[in-house]
Amino acid sequence: MKKVILAYNRVSPEVITQLKEDYEVIYFEKNEYLDDPFFVQTLKKASGVIGLDLKVTKELLDLAPELKIISNVSVGYDNLPVDELSQRGIMATNTPDVLTDTTADAIFGLLLAAARRIAELDHYVKSEQWNELLPPHLFGMDVHHKRLGIIGMGRIGQAIAKRGHFGFDMEILYHNRSRKLEAENWLNASYVSMDELLAESDFVCLMVPASPETKQLISHEEFKKMKQTAIFINGSRGQNVDEDALYHALENGTIWAAGTDVFTEEPLPAGHKLLTCKNLVTLPHIGSSTAETEHKMSVVAANNLQAGLSGKLPPNLINKEVKLNR
Ligand code: DGY
Repeated sequence: MKKVILAYNRVSPEVITQLKEDYEVIYFEKNEYLDDPFFVQTLKKASGVIGLDLKVTKELLDLAPELKIISNVSVGYDNLPVDELSQRGIMATNTPDVLTDTTADAIFGLLLAAARRIAELDHYVKSEQWNELLPPHLFGMDVHHKRLGIIGMGRIGQAIAKRGHFGFDMEILYHNRSRKLEAENWLNASYVSMDELLAESDFVCLMVPASPETKQLISHEEFKKMKQTAIFINGSRGQNVDEDALYHALENGTIWAAGTDVFTEEPLPAGHKLLTCKNLVTLPHIGSSTAETEHKMSVVAANNLQAGLSGKLPPNLINKEVKLNR
């Protein structure tokens, strides 16, 4: 009998077809949840789950006695209680590397859009307000030759720094849990304290993973430490920023502008106060969302799943302490 796989949300159709050769795959369009009896029924017999952003709780795991592996179609894994999974001997995997450049492109695009007011001025043209030379109060800010501060110098942080350094002659500052000596060399990046980064950067770009330590890492105090002309970019996770503080910083002119791809609650609820900020560029969490990259992520996730279920080491195993061959 074939093992059962519960697939959900953002697994490419080609990958589903391929998985069906070896497994019984039951696909849910969205992250159907525990109030859906068919989802629960599938969970009860599933050896693996694969998809994007399923909120995994103890309650869900209690309903999944056969589960050996959760294969996230994302690099982030803040939806997974990794320690709990390890205790239960369930493998967790993610999809790093294949999305690095795509995500860096999106976040650098956000930075450019915020600095040059691209979304706001697109609206200006399309709403037929462009009937004279652009008035100076709508001018943007230069990006080239400015100082880019990156908090979280992992793969994506470095790819953003690369774009800034080689493409826009920017000076790179970074703050990270550990020094990245290689990046210091090839990107001429300077490791600085968080306070120094906040005070000295023209662009502050947040790229840390979500964890209890990074929850609301950027709040009122941090915005106050930034330059009044600073542009803040969040390409990490919504929970890393205090959204009330961001709102006040933008409305009170504590900083000049911001761009964010992520929010504490996604999709952003109707009537959210950030929606009223003209100097904020918003994106619907599109970091890795190109057709090519989403497909590559599905392929990587499927490889992780297949390796895990056949007793091999999944290439992107997060909780290496889990014993294989269960
Ligand atoms: C990731 O891969 O973590 C993206 O942010 C999608 O969640």
